[in-house]
Amino acid sequence: MPDDVLDTKLLEACLRLARRHQGLTAANPSVGTLLVQFDDHVPIIVGRGITAFGGRPHAERVAIDEAGEKARGATAYVTLEPCAHHGATPPCAQALIDAGVARVVTAWTDPDQRVNGKGHAMLLEAGIELSQARMEVVRRDLSAYLTRKSHNRPHVTLKLAVSADGKLGVAGKEVPVTGVLARSVVHRMRAQADAIAVGSGTLAADDPDLTCRLPGLETRSPRRFVLDGQASMAPTSRLARTAMQVPTTLVTAQPVLPEALTELGVTRLAAELHDGRIALPEMLEDMAADGVSSLMVEGGAAVAQSFLASSLVDSLALFTAPTVIGKEGLASPVCLDTVPNEFRLERSLTLGHDQLDLFFKV
Ligand SMILES: NC(=O)c1ccc[n+]([C@@H]2O[C@H](COP(=O)([O-])OP(=O)(O)OC[C@H]3O[C@@H](n4cnc5c(N)ncnc54)[C@H](OP(=O)(O)O)[C@@H]3O)[C@@H](O)[C@H]2O)c1
Repeated sequence: MPDDVLDTKLLEACLRLARRHQGLTAANPSVGTLLVQFDDHVPIIVGRGITAFGGRPHAERVAIDEAGEKARGATAYVTLEPCAHHGATPPCAQALIDAGVARVVTAWTDPDQRVNGKGHAMLLEAGIELSQARMEVVRRDLSAYLTRKSHNRPHVTLKLAVSADGKLGVAGKEVPVTGVLARSVVHRMRAQADAIAVGSGTLAADDPDLTCRLPGLETRSPRRFVLDGQASMAPTSRLARTAMQVPTTLVTAQPVLPEALTELGVTRLAAELHDGRIALPEMLEDMAADGVSSLMVEGGAAVAQSFLASSLVDSLALFTAPTVIGKEGLASPVCLDTVPNEFRLERSLTLGHDQLDLFFKV
């Protein structure tokens, strides 16, 4: 196998390792590392590392500790550039140098200002051979971290379930659009996100739970945000009643929340208004500052339209169902045949009678 193909395969193996801790490493990205010795071009893995739960120790440190002396002369495969800044522990680039690694292959540069090429430079200065791949699949996996570091806001996924006649539901009442399989995929997406946002219209119409209810993943429900300029959330709503179990925040221009809501544990994110609506860029900046790297926007129609119009959607999860809602339905701001050109289709899945098409902004 040519060396560059082998490098790609080993980086893909690192990526599969990293996925095991995705969503569990706090504000740090989940990175995968393999330390590999070669016996006549046959790779022998001597150390494996994933960013630990909570974000520390980093993947490189874990792999070096596993490899021990076998790290000397090895090639390190890492999905993200090793860090270069000192904290309580030395930076990972230094740890790789100290471990005697001969070659490092990375799949993406870390845009964190404290790193951003400095990790790579440290390795080169130490005489280590360095190969930098730019793997699109790694960029996708790290998109939450990369978006927060590069744009100071969370990566936004807009999820919509659209009927065969291009509708999202009926204003003011809950109308199921997709089937059980599609809904379980949505629950899995929720488990992978830091937060979910909906508008006050969806809250009033659907009284949703917005939790992950897949067996075994119940503890992975993300934080819930409601765009609610007037703080009109009913204390009897499911979100309010379960705010002690799953953090629930109203994004509102109201200076204080009604006492009934604060007593239930609902918190407030202060928002600025723009044309009478919550200013989305400022809201996203505040969410990022509060540790949210990935946000799943689950509607409804007005909120989805605002995110699209502000060019604040990074990926689009479009569920299309054979259900027909009819004239009274709320038109979806986007359907399969109106996806804006800047989105590229990444994957399509058949889910019973429904279909999921996943798009990423180019
Ligand atoms: N099929 C699906 O995927 C799906 C998903 C979710 C919902 N739905 C359906 O969609 C319907 C609700 O949609 P909707 O359009 O009526 O309500 P919505 O989009 O859920 O909420 C709209 C409300 O959010 C508040 N808001 C605050 N800032 C905003 C901003 N920047 N942009 C837009 N809205 C902002 C406004 O209320 P304030 O003025 O009070 O702040 C606005 O009236 C329901 O029927 C629900 O079943 C369908």
